[in-house]
Amino acid sequence: MTQLPGLLDTEAIRKDFPILDRQVHDGRKLVYLDNAATSQKPRQVLDALSEYYERYNANVHRGVHVLAEEATALYEGARDKVAEFVNAPSRDEVIFTKNASESLNLVANMLGWADEPYRVDHETEIVITEMEHHSNIVPWQLLAQRTGAKLKWFGLTDDGRLDLSRIDEVITEKTKIVSFVLVSNILGTVNPVEAIVRRAQEVGALVCVDASQAAPHMPLDVQALQADFVAFTGHKMCGPTGIGVLWGRQELLEDLPPFLGGGEMIETVSMSSSTYAPAPHKFEAGTPPIAQAVGLGAAIDYLSAIGMDKVLAHEHAITEYAVKRLTEVPDLRIIGPATAEDRGAAISFTLGDIHPHDVGQVLDEQGIAVRVGHHCARPVCLRYGIPATTRASFYLYSTPAEIDALVDGLEHVRNFFG
Ligand code: ALA
Repeated sequence: MTQLPGLLDTEAIRKDFPILDRQVHDGRKLVYLDNAATSQKPRQVLDALSEYYERYNANVHRGVHVLAEEATALYEGARDKVAEFVNAPSRDEVIFTKNASESLNLVANMLGWADEPYRVDHETEIVITEMEHHSNIVPWQLLAQRTGAKLKWFGLTDDGRLDLSRIDEVITEKTKIVSFVLVSNILGTVNPVEAIVRRAQEVGALVCVDASQAAPHMPLDVQALQADFVAFTGHKMCGPTGIGVLWGRQELLEDLPPFLGGGEMIETVSMSSSTYAPAPHKFEAGTPPIAQAVGLGAAIDYLSAIGMDKVLAHEHAITEYAVKRLTEVPDLRIIGPATAEDRGAAISFTLGDIHPHDVGQVLDEQGIAVRVGHHCARPVCLRYGIPATTRASFYLYSTPAEIDALVDGLEHVRNFFG
């Protein structure tokens, strides 16, 4: 068995994830390498979800009965866990949403409806990058169309990094918001937050960081990032689907208007007008994803008990090994940084002229789950002149043996297509 420095005890960890024992396609061992799409869930999270529904299920913030109080304590307890996990100065800065897309849409809509000095209008500019997930492109396109603001972006270098050579021309005095991904879901690139934040602060622009592919994999400290908003999702970090997070700086959340209206986000309502509850409730209209928040809290407990620095070290070792082994495969071209430095645990590649959908299908027949396509980051494929990629992405339970299985599987793909 290949041993690498920094690896976690995957034999023990994998026992926590029942699905990893599954066999597919008539007895093939499942090799799950689609973690950037969604992670698998440990027993501890599955148990927290069923325990919630078996013992505590009630609506939150509304009832005087015991279940309502217990459910509220669990939901608000999950907020405390998230706040601690990302080192938020205050729990009131943690807004629960349904996913990272909703978190990013929330920021765009807050700014669209805001008064000065935050208001985005036809005299202002929005800055994103060419490596964004569609969820950090489309909300800004919608905002630009609605307000007349100009949408600008950083392009990419040939090796899959942000081209910041003209940073002062891209981020200008007109820029109201710079929104970018911390770790690319398609290229795996880890972006230089500090340089972007420094320039944004120089011109007084707000900064929003999409940390969907970072929060599951590395220690995340919103104070160290110095951003104004940070978005991520629960289901990629061992939590259930249907729960996302937007962290925002308290004074901004106090000033900015709500986007969704409804129950529980108000202070008072009359037929002609309403006043709003303080953040975070101002941004959480309607019955929130209660069980999902509880599940996310259990996921955070699980990851924290292991230690995010250890998760990062494990994934770095696995990624380094994967880059080395994949580089040995003839005709394989990594799309994105071709080293393990400054990259996350998602590796996209092409294999000669074999279409990624064919690669994915033949791998699947061998029990190996990868994602193929444009990964909701189509501008990246356009930039590199390819229709799609095959993407293998790893997590704390990934093993060197699974990387070997992938490499063997790709050999099989090459033989299959001659
Ligand atoms: N954003 C997820 C991915 O990259 C779905 O696959």
